[in-house]
Amino acid sequence: MDAVKQYKKMYRQKLAPAEELAKRVESDNVICSDITLAQPKALLEAVAEHVKAAGLTGVKQHTVLDIYPYEMYQNADLLGSLTGISWFSSKGASRAANGGFGDVMPCYYRDIPGLFEQYIDIDYFVAAVSPMDKHGYFSMSTVGSASVGMMRKAKHILVEVNKNLPRALNAPMVHISQVEGVCENTIPLAVLPKAELDEVSRTIGGLIAERIPDGATLQLGIGAVPDAVGLALKDKHDLGIHTEMFTDSMVELIECGAVNNSKKPIHTGKTVATFAFGSQRIYDLINDNPAFELLPVDYVNNPEVIARHPNFVSINAALEVDFYGQVCAESIGTKHVSGSGGQVDYVRGAIQSPGGMSFIAFPSTAKGGTVSKIQPTLTPGAIVTTSKNDVDCIVTEYGIAKLRGRPLSERVKALIAIAHPDFRDELTFAAKKQNIMI
Ligand code: COA
Repeated sequence: MDAVKQYKKMYRQKLAPAEELAKRVESDNVICSDITLAQPKALLEAVAEHVKAAGLTGVKQHTVLDIYPYEMYQNADLLGSLTGISWFSSKGASRAANGGFGDVMPCYYRDIPGLFEQYIDIDYFVAAVSPMDKHGYFSMSTVGSASVGMMRKAKHILVEVNKNLPRALNAPMVHISQVEGVCENTIPLAVLPKAELDEVSRTIGGLIAERIPDGATLQLGIGAVPDAVGLALKDKHDLGIHTEMFTDSMVELIECGAVNNSKKPIHTGKTVATFAFGSQRIYDLINDNPAFELLPVDYVNNPEVIARHPNFVSINAALEVDFYGQVCAESIGTKHVSGSGGQVDYVRGAIQSPGGMSFIAFPSTAKGGTVSKIQPTLTPGAIVTTSKNDVDCIVTEYGIAKLRGRPLSERVKALIAIAHPDFRDELTFAAKKQNIMI
């Protein structure tokens, strides 16, 4: 039998409904899946049903940026039988964590593959993949991320084939011979709701765009402000992309010709990301596209790799910043919002890059203008994502405060100058009281 026929035969032999595959899970098993579109919806829903029907206990499910409403993150009664552990939270995981029925793993995104390999015994690695090719390989589609490390550690691999998933040419692959079970589930791909770009985001986007030279390589983080920066760069030339998440504004930059990756010293001519998530436009662009590389996060987010690009510019959002320049991007006080992601790695990579810059950007206020996002101290319980020793530039709609290489007295003045005018007097009063406004 030729190889192609043999792979097809193996596929048929391993094919089963998601509900049947889920029944292999036993009490105390550990299940994990990778980020966003790599999550196999039917399989994970079937696992939850099986856990309930069979009365299993102690099953743990690890998630990274949960994109489906998993029952364990909705239903507190499942705690102890099916418990979620979130490595980067979307709304479901954060609600469960704040409700006391979901767990959280503190980590940098870059370390996720290594942490799994070192500390987590995985029974089942489960993944949504694009259809098998004639050589017997399934592409991990829009995700480089942590799948390679997770698969190395997993005792069993189950895949859910979705014909709608794009086939990335340069992404991790899994072979039919490595897989113990296959199910099929052709569903529309999840999309990220388009961020609303208001006047404030656009102003911030414009301020940062002015500082970005032609030929720069970019990372844009999650949120409306990084999107606005992307859209403000359409008149630039020879930009490159080396990023954690590939986003919709980057599609626009590629299509208008502002991004061609020609000046990148490594991966020249290619867009590099560790995952892509957004609209169908992104997924269409990735499909069969040799100019895309979706590579493992321990490589993509490595600050040394980032720093090899001259004029690297990183743009990320935050929830609040204090007078020292400590950036909180993952909690509001003790309330869990998301994870550290790759913010710190991109800040560190950008500041080590020759000519590089890192911008942490956000509107000056939150909650309808009632709260200043620049504060004398972080709210008690707030988590420091980027430290005062790594931070470079903070941006609001009132300007850019360069903090790196500047003493506290200059930092505090620069920060108050970009705070909302309604809060500047009270911030100045607090700074004087803290004896740091000298
Ligand atoms: N005090 C109280 N509430 C605040 C606040 C503050 N200082 N700042 C923001 N909020 C609230 C907002 O009102 C909003 O509430 P809502 O959901 O009820 O509307 C919520 O917190 C989120 O704020 P928003 O400004 O809309 O966030 P965003 O979508 O721009 O995302 C982060 C910001 C920080 C959560 C996001 O960038 C993130 O997840 N970062 C993780 C770390 C990182 O940067 N990783 C790299 C990415 S590739």
